[in-house]
Amino acid sequence: MKGVILHGGHGTRLRPLTHTGPKQLLPIANKPMSNYCVDTLIQAGINEIAFIIGGIGAEKVKEFYGNGEKFGVKFSYIEQDYPKGIAHAISLCEDFINNEKFVVFLGDNIINKNISEYILNFQKSNVEASLLLCEVNNPSQFGIAEIKNNKIVNITEKPKNPITNFAVTGIYCLTSHIFEIIKKLKPSWRNELEIADALQMLIEEEEELTFEMITDFWKDTGTPKDIIQANKKILENMKEFQKGVIEDGVIISGKVMIEKGTIIKKGVKITGPVIIGKNCIIENNSHIKENTSIGNNCQIRGSTITDSIIMSDCIFEGKFDIKNSIIGSNSKILQNSNNTNNEFLLGEGSQISI
Ligand code: TTP
Repeated sequence: MKGVILHGGHGTRLRPLTHTGPKQLLPIANKPMSNYCVDTLIQAGINEIAFIIGGIGAEKVKEFYGNGEKFGVKFSYIEQDYPKGIAHAISLCEDFINNEKFVVFLGDNIINKNISEYILNFQKSNVEASLLLCEVNNPSQFGIAEIKNNKIVNITEKPKNPITNFAVTGIYCLTSHIFEIIKKLKPSWRNELEIADALQMLIEEEEELTFEMITDFWKDTGTPKDIIQANKKILENMKEFQKGVIEDGVIISGKVMIEKGTIIKKGVKITGPVIIGKNCIIENNSHIKENTSIGNNCQIRGSTITDSIIMSDCIFEGKFDIKNSIIGSNSKILQNSNNTNNEFLLGEGSQISI
């Protein structure tokens, strides 16, 4: 079976982080979000994957993943000229799929499940689609599946009175019949070709839609809050390692991952789960607290950081208390000793709460 990863889209809910690149390359526990999709597909034995790319920084996707050699599989790229919807993105894969069965993975969905069996079951079956569902606490905010006799009989987008709490996740096993369906779709109110409409059309054609459940973890990382939650979950599940230099007088507790070339100086406290990338300097009694990821080449002098993602090449100098934050690469937060005014240099869409 082939795999398709949707790596385009607007990413408006993640601005300003998405002004300079696709959201799916934003790091979670220091690894691009879509790399988790790639890992899940490869683990399930998929060795040919096409990325749908488009918009800002599409070239960065090619640069990062290349032809797949580094991953031991084959990657190719299909350009979407404008984000016209998930179903539109899928329609662009018709030639690549070449009448095989395939699995689509939304590049901003992260799951903690081995999907080998799900894929195998679909391969053996004669159904046109099988979905992964996950129970959620707030069903009114998702596409919700109604189940009868172990089959999906209806999908409702963001229902006001949800019948179940089984959300449709962004992983779909499909056959090439979906291309015929998508050709019949009309754009929705938001002018997109919707995957929910395509699946509903399959149901109306009386095709069987099967499903499997994700019982552990699924996250659609469309918003900053989602990314911070996904970061926490991934850190909790990581294996500990310490490759950097930790001076005497550093207090470490919980699960801590420290990469090569990083120096943690005397007086610093690290309370895991925390990951710190390569070639960082952490000093001046900084406290790196739970659920924090710090990228490569960062310098943290005196700050306390909790539940946050600090991307590479950042400098924090001063006694700041940073929480629930996502800080883009090359940012600086410096203590202003000359006056009491705060000075800012912020890009479009930035957000500060003081
Ligand atoms: P969404 O999160 O629904 O949309 P978006 O990425 O445009 O974000 P926002 O709503 O914040 O503006 O997209 C789900 C996934 O599908 C995501 O990985 C991006 C991808 N996608 C495409 O590749 N092409 C598209 O036309 C659309 C709409 C999404």
